[in-house]
Amino acid sequence: MTTPQAARTPVIEVSDLSVRFPSLDSGSEVRAVDGVSFSISQGETLGIIGESGSGKSTIGRTLVGLLEPSDGELVFDGRSSASMSRREWRARRRAFQMIFQDPDAALNPRMTILQSLVEPMKIAGGRSAAEMRDIALESLEKVGLRRDMAQRYRHELSGGQKQRVNIARILPLDPKLVVCDEVVAALDVSIRGEVLNLFREVQKELGLAYAFIAHDISVVAQISDRIAVTYLGRFVELGGTDDIIDRSLHPYTVALLSAEPQPLPPELRHRKRMVLEGDIPSPANPPSGCRFHTRCPWATALCAEKDPEWRELRPGHHVACHHTTPEGLPPQPADRRPPTD
Ligand SMILES: Nc1ncnc2c1ncn2[C@@H]1O[C@H](COP(=O)(O)OP(=O)(O)OP(=O)(O)O)[C@@H](O)[C@H]1O
Ligand code: SF4
Ligand SMILES: [Mg+2]
Repeated sequence: MTTPQAARTPVIEVSDLSVRFPSLDSGSEVRAVDGVSFSISQGETLGIIGESGSGKSTIGRTLVGLLEPSDGELVFDGRSSASMSRREWRARRRAFQMIFQDPDAALNPRMTILQSLVEPMKIAGGRSAAEMRDIALESLEKVGLRRDMAQRYRHELSGGQKQRVNIARILPLDPKLVVCDEVVAALDVSIRGEVLNLFREVQKELGLAYAFIAHDISVVAQISDRIAVTYLGRFVELGGTDDIIDRSLHPYTVALLSAEPQPLPPELRHRKRMVLEGDIPSPANPPSGCRFHTRCPWATALCAEKDPEWRELRPGHHVACHHTTPEGLPPQPADRRPPTD
C-alpha cells in the first residue's frame, strides 16, 4: 500500500513523551500522555485512534508546540527541540500546523475569507500585501474553491467549504507536518469522503506528513499508512494499517474494531462483537500493571502486577501485551467469551 516507513526521512521523532496536567479533584496529576514513542516520515500519515480521553489531542497539541512536554524528547529533522533557541523553535513551529474538528475554530467571523487566508502569512512576514493576496487566491483554487469565495464571511460557507479554507490557510506556510484532529467528525457523512480526498491530494502534492487523529476507525483506515492505538495515555499497538485492521494483536484493538458498525467497508469488518465492560479509568489514577487489565477479557494475575513491554512482534508491528503472540491472541477464556451472533 505504501513505501516502507524506514525508507523515508522522519519529519518528527518522539521519544518517551509524557504530558501531565494538574488535577483539581484528586490533588494528583492527570497523566494525559505517559511515555509514548513514534516517528512520522515525510509523506506519511500516522493515524491515532482510541476512546475519548486517551490522550490523542494532547499528543497532537504537543507536536505543534501548543503544549510543552513534561518529559521526553521531540526531534525535528534530526535536531532536538531541547537544543533549539526560542527563535529557532518559533521558526520551526511554522512547519508544524494543526487543523481542528470545529471548522469555525480558526476563522474569525468578522473577517472575510481572504483576510483569514492572509492572516497567517502576515504573522509569518516576508511578503508584500499583493503577494499575500495572490497566494491566498491560488490556495483557494488548490482546495477546490472559487476565487470569489474570498469575499465571503465564515457564516456564508458550508462546513466542508470551511474545512477546505482551513487547509488553504496553512498551504502558504509550507508545512511539513499537519496534525489533523477529528477534521471530518463535524462534517456531514456525505461530504467526508471528498474532504478526506482533498487531504490526500494536498499531501501527495506537498509531501506532507500527517498525524491523523479520529475516533472513527473507518476514517483513519482510509487515510493512514500506519495506525497507533492509544489507551489511557499510552500506545498499546502500532503497525501498518492492514496489520492493525486484519491482524490486530492487542485485545483493546480487537474490541475497538469489533465494535465498529456497518459503515466500515466489508474487508474491514471484524469478527464477533466484543463489548468492553466498564468505563475508561481515570488518567489521574491509572490501574497497576497493564492499564487495560480492568477491562480486558484475556487478563490474568500477571497483568495486574506487571506493565507489559513494548515488543515488535512482527516487522514494524509493535504491541504491549503479556499474552499476545505474533500469530495473534490465544482463544479467549471460555467464561468471558461473547455470545455468538
Ligand atoms: N488542559 C488540561 N488540563 C487538565 N486535564 C487535561 C487538559 N487537557 C486534557 N486533559 C485531560 O487529559 C486526558 C487526555 O485528553 P485528550 O483531550 O488528549 O483526549 P482525547 O483522546 O483527545 O479525547 P477526545 O477523543 O474526547 O478528544 C483527559 O483525561 C483530559 O481530561
Ligand atoms: S497484558 Fe493482559 S490485561 Fe493487558 S492487554 Fe494483554 S492480556 Fe489484556
Ligand atoms: Mg481529542
